[in-house]
Amino acid sequence: MRKIIITIDGYSSCGKSTLAKQLAKELNYVFVDSGAMYRAITLYFLRNHIDWNMTEEVVGALPNITLDFAYNDLDGTSDMIMNDENVEMLIREMLVSENVSEVAAVKEVRAFAVAQQQQMGLKKGIVMDGRDIGTTVFPNAELKIFVTADPAVRVERRYRELFLKNPHITIEEIRDNLEMRDYIDSNREVSPLRKAEDAIVLDNSNLTKEEQLTKVLGWVKEKL
Ligand code: C5P
Repeated sequence: MRKIIITIDGYSSCGKSTLAKQLAKELNYVFVDSGAMYRAITLYFLRNHIDWNMTEEVVGALPNITLDFAYNDLDGTSDMIMNDENVEMLIREMLVSENVSEVAAVKEVRAFAVAQQQQMGLKKGIVMDGRDIGTTVFPNAELKIFVTADPAVRVERRYRELFLKNPHITIEEIRDNLEMRDYIDSNREVSPLRKAEDAIVLDNSNLTKEEQLTKVLGWVKEKL
């Protein structure tokens, strides 16, 4: 059966990674969480006091960052590995979330990440989620999905996920962070968050994970 590229873009906390993981597992495809790459770069900049508004500092730092994914075949998860360190937990912390959209708006950072993402798609058989995957990374992808969900549903989902790790987190903090990231992601100069013209919109506000998967697998079948 031919292998295709599936792109999943959309606003923050719409369940893009959950869907991408489900699809990759079902189809035996590679799953790539492109947001994790921007988060890892942000963690590196924060730790090493790199000012991302200074082009020379960014250009000097990027060659020192290697990004890999460690896949767990049993539960279908993937961990972000930065310079041989598993940073999966660290990149989900609030400090990274608060700064990642600014870092991801830097032209040189995007060129660095996009080149690696395109390399990963050369053999097809890949599901990648992010903000610009269907528009910039794989404009010729066979199936493009743009996920949306009601803002209140997104805040609630994110709260439930983060509360387990940090019981002090508040709904307001989460709402502010999602709004801020969506604003920066949609208004940046390079590769802003946009629905690709040929993307299918999936509103999952009222869908269970199973219903969502069934729906999307139907779209996949049409492309194979
Ligand atoms: O997907 P996630 O919410 O973890 O991504 C973190 C941030 O990385 C996003 O808010 C966005 O600023 C940036 N990002 C991006 N382009 C992508 C994926 C993520 O700019 N393809």
